[in-house]
Amino acid sequence: MKDERKSTWGPEAERLASRYALVAGSAVTFVLFGLIVTPALLRERRARPAAPSDQPAAPTAGWLDQAEAPPSHGKDLPPIDPKTLMTATPQLVGRGQTLFKQHCVSCHGDAGHGDGPASATLNPKPRNLTAPDNWKNGYRVTNIFTTLATGIKGSGMASFNYLPPADRMALVHYVRSLGGFDHGPEDPKALAALTSSLASQGVHIPNRIPVSMAIRKMVAEQAPAPTLPATAASNELVRRTVVDPSTAARTVAATDAHADVASLARAWTAGAPQNGFSTALVGLSADEWHTLVSVLLGEDRPMGRAVDGGGP
Ligand code: HEC
Repeated sequence: MKDERKSTWGPEAERLASRYALVAGSAVTFVLFGLIVTPALLRERRARPAAPSDQPAAPTAGWLDQAEAPPSHGKDLPPIDPKTLMTATPQLVGRGQTLFKQHCVSCHGDAGHGDGPASATLNPKPRNLTAPDNWKNGYRVTNIFTTLATGIKGSGMASFNYLPPADRMALVHYVRSLGGFDHGPEDPKALAALTSSLASQGVHIPNRIPVSMAIRKMVAEQAPAPTLPATAASNELVRRTVVDPSTAARTVAATDAHADVASLARAWTAGAPQNGFSTALVGLSADEWHTLVSVLLGEDRPMGRAVDGGGP
């Protein structure tokens, strides 16, 4: 009996409910927008002294600021012609060099010899990119692209998948430019596969809302932003290794409850400096790691598998 009733008005109710959700959703967005943008505009008008009208308006904050641009829908940019990524043009190599300085020299060193400041504590050592010895994935275009996509398990070499494919290709060409040795012929099949995979990857620009709106939403949805423990501020190690306390606090808060010191060391080192920690992390000894983690987590974690190569 009951089942029959449910099945007769169920779909209708569902339709109604989803329509209602849609309307409510738009209403909330609208109200949030009004709550944030209107006061900002008013504030701005009040803050700005009546500017002489013959002068061009100075760039202002408020929503003329890019970060405060009105909400916009996401879109997919058309994919780049992959052929433009397959040859080492000066532009690509130059872009690769810039990215290499940002993301790679801490381990691979300025010239790619595998002797960056982080290399001392790493085992296995970062690859010497200028010589053809001991490459695990190999130094063909497709090989290096794979290395950047997946990283190398069991080593400090992380995945750089978060970089757009075009940037990863720029890095591939720059890495190859570092070594004057013969990189050998490409495997035509693998190259064709890579070319077509690049062709199918357009770039997705996500939906955008003003930063202030995003912040309010976050504040409304979440508990207060994590902070580092009060005792951390006075700790010498913390001061040496934390560059951005609030980002570092988020990194700490996102810590797996079961991770041991050694895996935290690897993860935090690999994530620096975007995760709020300085790349100076790579110079810490095992003891220092233990102290740092204890101070930041406010608890004593087991060491786990030795921090690679680190420690006295
Ligand atoms: C945290 C240190 C670290 C950073 C940062 C790092 N690498 Fe590595 N990389 C390593 C280590 C360690 C290895 C050697 C892994 C092994 O032998 O298992 C390696 C190996 C490699 C290899 C050789 C792969 C092979 O086939 O053997 C390439 C190519 C490479 N890295 C490129 C890069 C590029 C490009 C960047 C920057 C986008 C980068 N690495 C950033 C540590 C790092």
